[in-house]
Amino acid sequence: MKFPFLLPFRAFAALTLLALAAHAAPAIKIGFLVKAPEEPWFQLEWKFAEQAAKELGFTLVKIGASDGEKVLSAIDNLAAGGAQGLIICTPDTKLGPGLVAKARAAGLKLLTVDDQLVSANGQPMTKVHYLGISAGKIGEDVGKTLAAEMKKRGWTAADTAVCAATFDELATAKARTDGAINALKAAGFPENRIFKAPQRTGDIPGSFDATNILLTQKPDVKYWLVCANNDNGVLGAVRALEGRGFTAATAIGVGINGTDCIVEFEKAKPTPFFGSMLLSAKSHGYDTAKMMYNWIKDGKEPALDTRTVGVLITRENFRQVLKEQGIRD
Ligand code: GLA
Repeated sequence: MKFPFLLPFRAFAALTLLALAAHAAPAIKIGFLVKAPEEPWFQLEWKFAEQAAKELGFTLVKIGASDGEKVLSAIDNLAAGGAQGLIICTPDTKLGPGLVAKARAAGLKLLTVDDQLVSANGQPMTKVHYLGISAGKIGEDVGKTLAAEMKKRGWTAADTAVCAATFDELATAKARTDGAINALKAAGFPENRIFKAPQRTGDIPGSFDATNILLTQKPDVKYWLVCANNDNGVLGAVRALEGRGFTAATAIGVGINGTDCIVEFEKAKPTPFFGSMLLSAKSHGYDTAKMMYNWIKDGKEPALDTRTVGVLITRENFRQVLKEQGIRD
């Protein structure tokens, strides 16, 4: 053997590498579960969470789960796969205590986003970390915008009515439509011309069906103002209104999210979808992912309750605002 001294060196190097691998901190893996993965809002949340994963160097596991059973089995899978944390917008907030217990048993840190968990008595679980929108305030801005646009158009209260497509089983949704209704009342809109169209499901078909029922009951209304939980709630109502001959000249709706209405704004001809309160998908995706990463890595616990704001976008300004917020090139 020519260089016998190399052998022990090689063995030493190999052993050192092995020892280093054994002592290295386990790779950080974070699950990000959303209730409606097909909706642009949640896709954008994921996109921003992925950006955080790339920048900070952790593994992001994206999970779509439309019911409670899927949520519970996703927690099992994450734990089995070595994840340390879960960020979740649950399809069912009433899963609250069960979900918390399951995550704890699985050793997963839990950060809820968008929809706050509720306990058995229906109260928000304020001890579970949460990042969501300032729902009441953003709803009020929807109501104020509708009242201002009605005035601009010279529509009288006698000719006009409000369609609030509601989804009261979800607290944040109720806070939004309640906020819009309160602001309309504060602007002087008569309470007896504000009608709720309760949605059976929180998606476009849910508000389409609910609005159609209302429109059948109120055939004499000349102008409609529309508010809802989110863009999809307003989109469903707008489609129902168009089905009855209403146009941008006779109906206006203001959504919330600003992400699920872009196609609508890009249509050559304006539709009754007037505007939307654009939320910060970056805070909801990037910031939550970063908070969870820091919590796992350095034990830095995030704030228990973080609320984000919204800004009005319309056909006039949406391109520029989306660009400014890094949502569109
Ligand atoms: C709820 C809604 C979503 C979105 C988020 C924002 O989950 O269903 O469309 O508005 O809140 O937090």
